[in-house]
Parts: sequence; structure tokens; C-alpha cells
Amino acid sequence: MALQRSALVASGKVYQTHGISRRVAQITISAIKEMPLIASKVGGCVSLGQGIPSFPTPPHIIEAVYRKMREDPDAGKYTLGPGMLELREAVALQLSRQSGRTVDPDKEICITVGAMEALSAAVLTVVDRGDEVILPSPNYASHIEQVLLAEGIPIFVPLLEANWQLDVDEIRRAITPRTKAIIICNPHNPTGANFAESDLRMLADLAIANDLFIICDETYDFLVYDGQSHFSLTTIPELEGRIIATFSFSKKYAMTGWRVGYVYAAEAILDQIMKIHDAVAICAPSLSQHAALAAIEGPQDCVAEIKAALQRRRDLVCERLGQLEDFFDYVKPQGAYYLMARYKLPDVDSMTFALRLLHEARVITIPGAAFGPTGENHIRISFGGAESELNEAFDRIAKWLADTVK
Ligand SMILES: Cc1ncc(COP(=O)(O)O)c(C=O)c1O
Repeated sequence: MALQRSALVASGKVYQTHGISRRVAQITISAIKEMPLIASKVGGCVSLGQGIPSFPTPPHIIEAVYRKMREDPDAGKYTLGPGMLELREAVALQLSRQSGRTVDPDKEICITVGAMEALSAAVLTVVDRGDEVILPSPNYASHIEQVLLAEGIPIFVPLLEANWQLDVDEIRRAITPRTKAIIICNPHNPTGANFAESDLRMLADLAIANDLFIICDETYDFLVYDGQSHFSLTTIPELEGRIIATFSFSKKYAMTGWRVGYVYAAEAILDQIMKIHDAVAICAPSLSQHAALAAIEGPQDCVAEIKAALQRRRDLVCERLGQLEDFFDYVKPQGAYYLMARYKLPDVDSMTFALRLLHEARVITIPGAAFGPTGENHIRISFGGAESELNEAFDRIAKWLADTVK
């Protein structure tokens, strides 16, 4: 499915590309980031847009960083490139428990500037110009730009819209001799799907049979609802050497602004990823690494509280959307904190619809087209905001629809 790049620039900004590299000229700033920028100029908007959970960073994490800054004169210096050994050890231990394999903190883990740096480095490490990368779609918007930046070709394979699960047969059919990798995000942004273990196992078989890499974005690994479990591709030993998994502290510990995450890969691949990490970041911010260590070693009730609050918000948003069933269809999210709402207005593209909601109803949503061509005719709704904000946003949307769409 083709991707219309020009339709993705929410601000309407026309970029001057003279002298700019082909790699950079062809990518865009994701509409996820553009919509709040536009809203900041419009003023008075409430947000169902960017995935920023409303929670403050837990106090024990902040305290630990204060203490470190007061007591350790080295706290503000660069750490080792792959990150503080103590943090890598803590992360490797956690990942070993989750994946059932022994993860080596020295050779298989690098602490990164959020999952975002980990993902960019992973894609740049394995994708060459002209390589095809399969994206089950709609997909996280930045995965598209990361592939394009590596001069790869995103191949969008639609998810099954009835439940947003993987269509493994379609993925199989999309594989060609140029296919290099599959990027999988589970639990899934933007649909809220929690992919079935049986499908993920079939996907792993496909990767092995066709000699593909799997880049596995586990930013929301902790966040599934209704007592479900999350199946991680890192638990499949046969993927060793072809899986690169990325993780984040952003959502689990309400640390989006601290910019810290990590990447796991077999030594031979991590060695290559490290070259990019060194060239673009040197190391993840050292204070944020201390914060991450306090997060991972401290009490985990904060994670359970965040999860419970988000489940309540999920239910609230579903209830509010249910009241607007003449205007929207959606699939109840099983994980992460997003859903894709298909609007029933004909002949309106998702960018126009989202921009009208922003300017006229003063509600930020993200146009579905930002998540690949299969996202068209949808808006992405994030329920990371406080309940009062979610209610205000839906009050405004309901009023706008009543006033505008007769
Ligand atoms: C699917 C997905 N991957 C990666 C990221 C980036 O995470 P980080 O803040 O750790 O860079 C996000 C952030 O929203 C995300 O939703």
C-alpha cells in the first residue's frame, strides 16, 4: 500500500530541501508531535493526542536522583557508553526472568536515550538502501520514518480490523527476496491490540524460515488489561541472533521526559548497534540512568497503580465512544493506552478530520494516516490523560458533532 507523504504534514509547512540529503528530505515529523505544536498556537485545547500519561514520576525515583546529585560528584558525568553497569545488570536480570534465557549485561544490553534511540539504531543497523521492512499496519508512526531514514522501504501489511490482530498469511505473502526485517510493536500502539501468542509464534517461524530480523518494540510490555498476559518474542530461543528488542522506562514509571530505555540483542548485533549509539548519543543521560535504576530496584506498586488507572480510563473512553456510536466504530483496547476510532463521515480524510477537531472543537487527536495508509479514516485516541481531561474532550467532541454533523 502506498504512502502519501505530503498528506502527513499537519502544519502544512513546506520544507526547503535544497542541499538536504535525500534521507532526511523524505521523512517527516510525526503528526503525533505536530498536533500538540499546532494546538499550542490555537490555545485552549484538551488532548487525546500524544501518548503522555498524566502521572508524575513517582517520588522515590525523584528522591534517589536528588540524593545522587548531592552525594556523588560524578553523578552528572558521562557514564560508560552502554550505560552504568549496575543498571545494565538490573535490566538484564529482569529480562532474564521474563524471557527465560540468561541475558548478558556486558554484551547484550545497551541503555539508550529512550526506546526511540534504540529503535532508530536497530533499524539503521540492519536495513540497507532498498531493503523492505514489513510493518503490520496501522503502526507506530516513527517506525515509518526510521525505515525511511535507513533508506529502506516500508511494506504495510494491514492488521485485521475486526480485532486488530496480525494477519500472518498476508505477512507471509508480503515477503520477497528484498525483505530484511519485520517491526512488531506489542502491546500495540496505535490500536491497543495485544497480539495472540499463536500468531507471534508463526511470525517467529516466518522470520527464521526467511532469514529475517525481528525488531520488537516492547515499550508497553507491562500494560495489558483484564488480567491478560503479554507474550514476548524474546522468550523464543530460536530467534537468538535475529531479534532486536527495545524497552522503555517512559510509560511504565511515568518517566517520558527522562529519556531512558534499552536495547537487547545478541552480542554480534549489539556490537554494531553500539557504533550508532556512540556516534549519536555517547551515552544515555546519566541522571536518567540513576532514575531508571531507582525505578527498577524500587517498589513496583507505582506500576500497578498506573496500570489500574489506565484500565479505568480505557473503560471511560469506551463508554464515551459507545455514546457516539452513530459517529465512531472502535475495537476495545487490550493493552497500551490507545485506540483507533473509525469515523463514519464519508469523504473526509483523517488529517482534515483531526485538524477540524483541533481548530473547531479544541480537541487534539492524531490523524490515522500518520500510522500508515491503513490508518486512514481513523483518528488515534490516547487515554493517557486524566479522567477530567478525557471527559472534557468527549464533551467537546459530542457537542461539535451535534452542532456540525447534522
Ligand atoms: C510504540 C512506541 N515505541 C517507542 C516509543 C518511544 O518511547 P521512549 O519514550 O522510550 O523513547 C513510544 C512512545 O510513545 C511508543 O509508543
